[in-house]
Amino acid sequence: MHPALAPYTFARGGITVRNRTVLAAMTNKQSHADGTVSADEINWLEARSIGGFGIITTAATHVLEHGQGWEGEFGTWSDHHIDGLAAMANAITRHGAIGLAQLFHGGMRAPEALTGLQPRSASVNELGRDLGTSRAMSEQDVREVIDGFGAAARRCELAGFQGVELHGAHGYLIAQFLGAGTNRRTDAWGGSQQKRTQLLAEIISEVRRQTGPNFLVGVRLSPELKACGMNLEDSLETLRLCSSMELDFIHVSCWDIQAMGVHQGQEMHYTTVFRENLPEHLPLITTGGVWSAEEAGMAVEQGGDFIGVGRAGIGHPDWPHYLANDVPEPLRPPFSFNHLETAALSPTFIDYMRRWDGFVED
Ligand SMILES: Cc1cc2nc3c(=O)[nH]c(=O)nc-3n(C[C@H](O)[C@H](O)[C@H](O)COP(=O)(O)O)c2cc1C
Repeated sequence: MHPALAPYTFARGGITVRNRTVLAAMTNKQSHADGTVSADEINWLEARSIGGFGIITTAATHVLEHGQGWEGEFGTWSDHHIDGLAAMANAITRHGAIGLAQLFHGGMRAPEALTGLQPRSASVNELGRDLGTSRAMSEQDVREVIDGFGAAARRCELAGFQGVELHGAHGYLIAQFLGAGTNRRTDAWGGSQQKRTQLLAEIISEVRRQTGPNFLVGVRLSPELKACGMNLEDSLETLRLCSSMELDFIHVSCWDIQAMGVHQGQEMHYTTVFRENLPEHLPLITTGGVWSAEEAGMAVEQGGDFIGVGRAGIGHPDWPHYLANDVPEPLRPPFSFNHLETAALSPTFIDYMRRWDGFVED
């Protein structure tokens, strides 16, 4: 049996996942302007639970109204979202997967055109494209964010999700605090990697305070993030700090599992260097460029305990079945409109996928 098809039991609550495949978080722009989830957003996730994934992660969802990153993004910032979240959690779990909501705040990447407010971040940062700058968050703003993450997690738990993934990767608010380039503060929230990690630490404590003892909490991190001025050693320091927090998993976002970074003078795969810097009890999800059973096997050999897929899971709702023996490799892009529609993507999502070079056949 492929190692990614073996079940896994989390220490917390004895929660068992049927296999180690993960649908990584994917924004799909299918939900409503008031942040409630749409039937389309539920359908595409439900199809992946029917398709056999062990863990289904939702798209990034904003925990405060002013944290929205994209049009059509569902929110977790108000109790009026709970009914829709419950329908989503139910659709994921009734076919055997466990559901994680990916909580985030866009920070300087929550456009004023969507929120009506000047984007906020750790420091005053250039937004690019003649959009001016972000404003530096006050102590009160920081507290609002910490509380917002906690309240959003509470709503997700109430709705029936098994846990949350805190989005600390890819340059959104948590990553803007983690990176020395975007966080030039000299107060309690900046000045050293430990202080730049403090926002994440307090978010984790608040999520724990507002949720029950069996609720899974993990963090997604980028191994290197030039846009925020964070190199591999910085993210490893944050990772080591995470090891002593009340977490249930770490997710390293590699974009390409074959990519390498230099640690202590040695070139290493990101998955391997993350695994080596984590205590054994914390499982590691790794994602990036995996399509075939062979590639998923490489990710396991590099140290991944769970294997995440993004685009392969868009093209193939039943992607985990391709890990079985004697099954041909899954088709790779480009995919026709009809193929994607059959894979439970709405025309809105298919249109969004045209932005990903060569994904949709025209
Ligand atoms: C359409 C699309 C939307 C994405 N949205 C998110 C997101 O909301 N949160 C996130 O952490 N990553 C997001 N990602 C990144 C994926 O989770 C994944 O890490 C990336 O696609 C690389 O994996 P892959 O090569 O298997 O696609 C997105 C990727 C795609 C293709």
